[in-house]
Amino acid sequence: MTSAREIVIVDEEEFEREIIIVEEEEEFLKDKTYYFHQTPEELCIELIKLVPLVEGDRVLEPFSGEGNFYRNFPDFVKKDWTEIAQGRDYTSYDKEIDWVITNCPFRLENNTLKKRENAFWKILNYYSDRAKKGMAYLVNDKCFGTLTVRRLRELNKKEWYIQSISCCSIKKWRGRYFWIIFEKKPCTFYKYIDGNF
Ligand SMILES: C[S@@+](CC[C@H](N)C(=O)[O-])C[C@H]1O[C@@H](n2cnc3c(N)ncnc32)[C@H](O)[C@@H]1O
Repeated sequence: MTSAREIVIVDEEEFEREIIIVEEEEEFLKDKTYYFHQTPEELCIELIKLVPLVEGDRVLEPFSGEGNFYRNFPDFVKKDWTEIAQGRDYTSYDKEIDWVITNCPFRLENNTLKKRENAFWKILNYYSDRAKKGMAYLVNDKCFGTLTVRRLRELNKKEWYIQSISCCSIKKWRGRYFWIIFEKKPCTFYKYIDGNF
């Protein structure tokens, strides 16, 4: 992907060129797939109700898309967003975060291996070091399956535990989806068994 930030403006002609590149970037990102994967707003409203937010919580939607989650965060929280199609990569956000609430991209670019890879664990692991109170992710069965025993153990070591899993349907996508809420307090229902059998 071409990044407009890589262009150095040296004269009028270069300036024109930068504008064209920005437009191309947006066109490339905001294709049919982008719009297709925006979580239905009515579902976002229901999912947010399940998150135990309190007054003053700093809430980040790091992959905000068209803002269907972001727009519906309650008025009593301090909210913020990042979205690559609007020039804000999630890794560029450096403010304090209490909660991360999102439906994240299924795949992300791996710059070292030069390929797109399954993103859920990468993102979850990243925010497990950044968020102070909780994380809520809408995921499909494939992403849910990447939560291996080893990874759950890693999260537990950092005091992160699944607090609830709610199932919902988005039939135009893969059917069943899971709203997983992690908090920094022990889990009473979701366990794992060590070893490989
Ligand atoms: C599955 S869509 C979900 C959008 C929104 N969270 C929702 O639930 O409606 C994932 C979004 O992540 C954005 N995205 C992909 N890579 C990103 C990155 N590196 N930083 C920020 N946003 C990114 C995509 O442009 C897309 O809008």
